[in-house]
Amino acid sequence: MAMEKIRTIAVIGAGAMGSQIAMLCALAGFKTYLQDISETSLQKALDSLKFQMSRRVEKKRITETEYKMAFARMHLTTDLAEAVGTSDFIVEAIVEKLEEKRQLFAKLDELAPKHAILATNSSTIVNSKIATATSRPDKVCNMHFFNPPLKMDLVEVVTGPETSEETARTAVKLVKKLGKTPILLRKEISGFIANRLLGAMNREALSLLEQGIATHEEIDLAAREALGHPMGPFALMDMTGLDVNYYVQLQQYEESGDPLLKPSRILQEKFEKGELGRKSGKGFYTY
Ligand code: 3HC
Repeated sequence: MAMEKIRTIAVIGAGAMGSQIAMLCALAGFKTYLQDISETSLQKALDSLKFQMSRRVEKKRITETEYKMAFARMHLTTDLAEAVGTSDFIVEAIVEKLEEKRQLFAKLDELAPKHAILATNSSTIVNSKIATATSRPDKVCNMHFFNPPLKMDLVEVVTGPETSEETARTAVKLVKKLGKTPILLRKEISGFIANRLLGAMNREALSLLEQGIATHEEIDLAAREALGHPMGPFALMDMTGLDVNYYVQLQQYEESGDPLLKPSRILQEKFEKGELGRKSGKGFYTY
């Protein structure tokens, strides 16, 4: 499917990532479906998008008319068949668990038009592991956005051994159409580029904390004031979600079997207590 022919896009999963990816699509002029199994998540997503987009209107980044038109193009639904039935391109942004993604992709394969490209926003799970749940592995790829997607400029597009040239080309062009900068990786590796760099920093930060060498505030201060990062690793983990970070570490550990990649004890404890970061009101910091 050529990018120029794409009219309708569906985004599955209305968390922080999915909802803002859908907003980017609507802003770029596509009819956009945002689907989630939870009505509450959809309502929360809509409230948050309205807040973020109103800020953009106030700052004169977009006009009132662009705001209205973007929301008019956005359709929220819990019905997967409605969301993907006429969609040309689908971006999955659900929980970071292989089996759930495979089950979803099998359904997408059944419900979406035969020409539709199925992309996953996952960075830890490479697309070839998901593509085998479909009958169209040539139309499956990774399209990995960064949090918050409305703001962060880069998107990693990754092909698997079966991904066609046309799928890769379309995904790269779509990223540009959404106003973002693509990087195309033709070799699969869990974490791709950015999250491998980030993972190394997070592991070291968690290790310094676990050894009692510094507090999370001190480590964040060092990242900000010595290295010029916009936010420290603990504030960033709180923003991306400690559940997401825990699943990422678990996935990488299970895949590699490398004892050095065993999920951090502190991260696991926080995950088990439901202290998931900003979204639950408490993570390393309290919100
Ligand atoms: N959603 C959307 N946009 C947001 C936002 C949010 N939650 N929070 C802030 N922004 C936007 C604002 O609208 C503003 O946009 P503008 O420049 O067009 O006016 C801009 O970000 C700056 O906002 P603020 O002045 O309110 O706040 P800060 O200057 O503190 O910036 C930040 C906030 C953009 C989040 C900045 O701290 C930052 O860049 N942090 C690092 C983020 C990062 O590293 N992301 C990657 C995470 S890894 C990942 O996502 C991979 C995944 O697989 C886990």
